[in-house]
Amino acid sequence: MSSILEQVILYEKEHAGLADSQRPLFHITGKIGWINDPNGFSVYKDMYHMFFQYHPYSTNWGPMHWGHVVSEDLLSWEYRDIALAPDQTYDKNGCFSGTAITLQSGEHALMYTSVNADGKQEQSLALGDGIHYKKFDKNPIICSQDVPQGNSTIDFRDPKIWKEDNRYYAVIGNKDENQKGCILLYQSQDLHHWEFVSTFYRNTENFGTMLECPDFFSLEDKDVLIVNPCSVKAIKDEFSSGHVSALFLGTWNRETNIFEKETCQNLDYGLDFYAPQTILDKKGRRILIGWMQNWNTAQFEHANKLLYGCLTLPRVLEKRGTRIVQNPIEEIRNYYHSDISLQTTMDGEVQLDEVRGRYFDLELSFLNQKNLVFSIQVAKGKDSYFLIEYSQNNNTLTIDRTYDGNVCDTIHVRKKVLYSHNEKTKLRVLVDRQCIEIFVNEGEDVFSNITYAPLEHDEISFITNQKIDVQLQFHILKK
Ligand code: FRU
Repeated sequence: MSSILEQVILYEKEHAGLADSQRPLFHITGKIGWINDPNGFSVYKDMYHMFFQYHPYSTNWGPMHWGHVVSEDLLSWEYRDIALAPDQTYDKNGCFSGTAITLQSGEHALMYTSVNADGKQEQSLALGDGIHYKKFDKNPIICSQDVPQGNSTIDFRDPKIWKEDNRYYAVIGNKDENQKGCILLYQSQDLHHWEFVSTFYRNTENFGTMLECPDFFSLEDKDVLIVNPCSVKAIKDEFSSGHVSALFLGTWNRETNIFEKETCQNLDYGLDFYAPQTILDKKGRRILIGWMQNWNTAQFEHANKLLYGCLTLPRVLEKRGTRIVQNPIEEIRNYYHSDISLQTTMDGEVQLDEVRGRYFDLELSFLNQKNLVFSIQVAKGKDSYFLIEYSQNNNTLTIDRTYDGNVCDTIHVRKKVLYSHNEKTKLRVLVDRQCIEIFVNEGEDVFSNITYAPLEHDEISFITNQKIDVQLQFHILKK
């Protein structure tokens, strides 16, 4: 083990426990300090493994390490020692994002972007047993000279690796000679020697610059490519400006090795979401976990905080027609501590006995009637709340954290025209301390958000502009 890795593991040990009181129950955070993208999400030796971009030394982004947690149910995670530190000449400027795969030899392979002192981004390997990882002695394995002529060697990162028909494949984010994002496809027989296959996907529209953190898999009868375009100009009713996460349904044309895109949807309409990864879990479900922050929102003041950044709850992806819907994994029910189930009439502002807290799963449904406006204020205290508002006339859901007590002047509001217009609207709000995830109409539209409301703000108000019947289920979450 290098002295840099030894030191950082020691630093973590010395600081372990300090941040425990700031941790959500189910959302992965670093032991201490800053995290961004999920990395190396995988099933290995019957356990779920998640790694993440990690800077334990502060609550700001810095030289990237890979933090590591493991779980049996994707909800209760245990820390393992940091897996990778920037301790080689070829990754001196950071071990950037990447993925993991299990080898026939039984080893767990991590493929990551190694950034050298000149800022060149190349791809490297580390092999391990689920606890300790050793970098491959012939790193980097996909180098600047393997990038097509004219494309960027500074923006060449985030390999997603998989194996098919005895061959390894990797898709990697890149930028072409026109400063537009593209995804490159590589292949290898032995994991060590790689050859360029094709420009798998090219952003020919005006959809941002670099494409970060690609994921590729099949779902039912379609192939799915997830990309994270940077510097996007807002696209009405679908994408906000900045860094976004897009999911394309389409087909990998095996003759041209080009991904033929058919549909495009935003994966998350909230304020805090980016760079997700997926796995096929032990039950055969396609599970997605993203970073529950975004480069545009990650500028908040970090005063008195020992932790910054977390990952979303695991969500199951399913195909409903041409829409991919996302819902929290059902195992969350194993952590229900109380059950309140009722049908009630609401008019004006209503608070219900025992319906309060900062760790809960709330499901609501109501029949739409003329001009209905239905709001929920969560994490509510005196003069402050996080607002979720459904408007029937516009068929929109708005989330607004302007008044949750934060002290940053930035965008706090998102409004989205809902995917479908149903007679009955269903809202599910999952709150785990500062994490608020909203699933509308059984996962058709998802909004992930961080609230900056103090933990003691734990009231919930329902506000309607007219008398309506509401069905409600409320469960406190506990470990
Ligand atoms: C995405 C990203 C990746 C990169 C990593 C660096 O959030 O910019 O492209 O590998 O973060 O931490």
